[in-house]
Amino acid sequence: MLILENKGVFVLETKNTHYVISVDPDGLICHEHWGRKCADIEDYRCTCKPWERNSNHSARDLARTEYIPYGGTCYRTPAFAATYDDNCREAHLTYKDFNVTFEDEDTFLLEIILEDKPYGIEVSLFYRLRENTDIIERFVKITNRSDKAVTLNKIASAEFTLPSTRPYSSTNFNGSWGAEFRKESTTVKNGVLTYENRKGGSNHTHSPLFILSQNATEKEGDVFFGALAWSGNYKVEISRDFAGITRAVIGINDFDFSYTLKPGKEFIAPSVFCGYVKGFSQMSNQMNSYAVEHILPKSFNKVPLPVLYNSWEATWFDVSSETQQKLAEIAADIGCELFVMDDGWFGQRKNDRAGLGDWYVNKEKFPEGLTPLIDKVKELGMRFGLWFEPEMVNPDSDLYRAHPDWAYHYDTREADLLRQQLVLNLTKDEVKEYVFDVMDKMLSKYDISYIKWDMNRAYSQTGAENLENPQELWYRHVKAVYEIADRLKAKYPCLQLECCASGGGRADLGALSHFDMVWTSDNTDPVDRLTIQQGFSLLYPIKCMRAWVTDTNRHSRPKDFDYRFNVTMQGSLSIGGNLTKYTEQELEIHRKYIALYKEIRETVQFGSFYRLANFDDDKIFATQYVKDGRSVLFLCRDVNTFFNDKFYRIKLDGLDGYSRYNVEIDGKTEAFSGDYLMNVGLEFEMGGTLQSKIILIDKVNA
Ligand code: GLA
Repeated sequence: MLILENKGVFVLETKNTHYVISVDPDGLICHEHWGRKCADIEDYRCTCKPWERNSNHSARDLARTEYIPYGGTCYRTPAFAATYDDNCREAHLTYKDFNVTFEDEDTFLLEIILEDKPYGIEVSLFYRLRENTDIIERFVKITNRSDKAVTLNKIASAEFTLPSTRPYSSTNFNGSWGAEFRKESTTVKNGVLTYENRKGGSNHTHSPLFILSQNATEKEGDVFFGALAWSGNYKVEISRDFAGITRAVIGINDFDFSYTLKPGKEFIAPSVFCGYVKGFSQMSNQMNSYAVEHILPKSFNKVPLPVLYNSWEATWFDVSSETQQKLAEIAADIGCELFVMDDGWFGQRKNDRAGLGDWYVNKEKFPEGLTPLIDKVKELGMRFGLWFEPEMVNPDSDLYRAHPDWAYHYDTREADLLRQQLVLNLTKDEVKEYVFDVMDKMLSKYDISYIKWDMNRAYSQTGAENLENPQELWYRHVKAVYEIADRLKAKYPCLQLECCASGGGRADLGALSHFDMVWTSDNTDPVDRLTIQQGFSLLYPIKCMRAWVTDTNRHSRPKDFDYRFNVTMQGSLSIGGNLTKYTEQELEIHRKYIALYKEIRETVQFGSFYRLANFDDDKIFATQYVKDGRSVLFLCRDVNTFFNDKFYRIKLDGLDGYSRYNVEIDGKTEAFSGDYLMNVGLEFEMGGTLQSKIILIDKVNA
């Protein structure tokens, strides 16, 4: 990093890029450049012109800024808004100072301090840079140095100004339950394009991120991106003004939100991880390895995730010690390493109408508690995991009968039930403690090394009468979830946590800072799943993407286990079918693929990966994972194609051009140079419905 103090310019240097910030003569913090490095750093200067353009378009409105507040003659999407004690609703943030901290030999943190002097409010913009990556972590801290409280109405984590005045293409998801991460791109026209969630979690529809690109493919074109580490209501506002300037403001949603910052207190907004790269593949690969290295909880970030069995689709709510033990025997026999009992084991839980909140073992289903089942699972050589939905309560539960006021509510409104349940008010200390305690009790009593933490409804009637400012609840609830997860992990260092919200409703970098993995979607149909997984892979780490091989055929898709495995093995392989109904031949298929997955999972979970082909463009789905001279290539043919298109040639990626590789395809092994495979391509034949292949490619004499 270079600071040209005489010019008021900060040059942040990443592996391949420069991110340049300046201070204008009025103390406005401006954005100068984000992109390729400029050879002569001395060329950077403040280009902001702090004189009024005309009476309708002020300099501030037009400026390329770094964190613009609402106030003065700035009317565009602000990053920050506050109401002061004297009812002044204009914030003026001007440059005060900066600090640089070397956190370790590879990491430094720049803090640029802005102030609203008359009100004693400081806003610090932070930039964390690490060696060998183009990712910058940005966050902000607000400090109240006055003796009066201030209401923060909007606290975005960052504002970005894009370099080109040509329109960008914006990519996010257009998803829903069972259809998460369906990528959708649109041109950013003049006006404001908003992706947001108001339901409490980060939700299935969009994701808290922006991807802005120009003429981009997997390998080429400018791609600017940022992903917010937040699992609650978020807002991404992408705007383009009449001068063609595109900006992105990203952070906690200001909808029904405000935060009262008391004297002497500070508020830290969640981090945004952002970068500029060439092509989508680099974006995914940089974020994938960055997340594994720096975002995921440290305990298991570098450990391959186990092959797990989950009982949900086999038994639904109808769990018992006997049925679970039967499943466990087969799960262990086919090679599973962890057995997770899903919903149904607690309280009066026979269906989704009762029991949530009563986290004690159901005596009818487990007369001797969970010990016989857990002993059996351990005897079989597996670890044991359990499902919880700790933030929720059914009105038909002991917990609700004892504490109806623990659920969010308004006295005058009838509570809206979704899936027959209400949301617990985790902003109350006693509720947060209860949730921690019930899980802690189960973990201390039983040998449980895995928790699937679920969350199955949007919030409503969000009265939080306990809070002086009830609009803080959206923020405080999410922080409480993170806090409980962290406390459990601190007390039980061997505990792995999976984050689920009716599938991928809380699959974001915030969750992944506290949970080891996510349940990606309730949709386990293998063809749909390819699209879901490819969307997830854009900015989220592959290793954390739990995927199940099941047999329930919600969508009447023929059950083809080869295809299902070939899709599921592209993430963290899990098994979810009713194994007791399978034939010996079907179990043998499971044994074969689980054994193969264990051989290749290091490559899949930690390798670089490439989206080589997709159904829309190529009529075939191809994904390649590369690590230490080994590649694993997954090929899945479109289910709907009955034409005679069965000859394919696909160019590989990530190989060493001068090395030779053995390619094992259809039982034959042939050698090719890396150059040939990347520039000419691999030719193969694949016809018929639901056809798929896994191809191993190994460097000769690696
Ligand atoms: C949600 C989850 C499922 C399962 C059920 C249990 O729908 O996404 O995987 O755990 O809850 O009720």
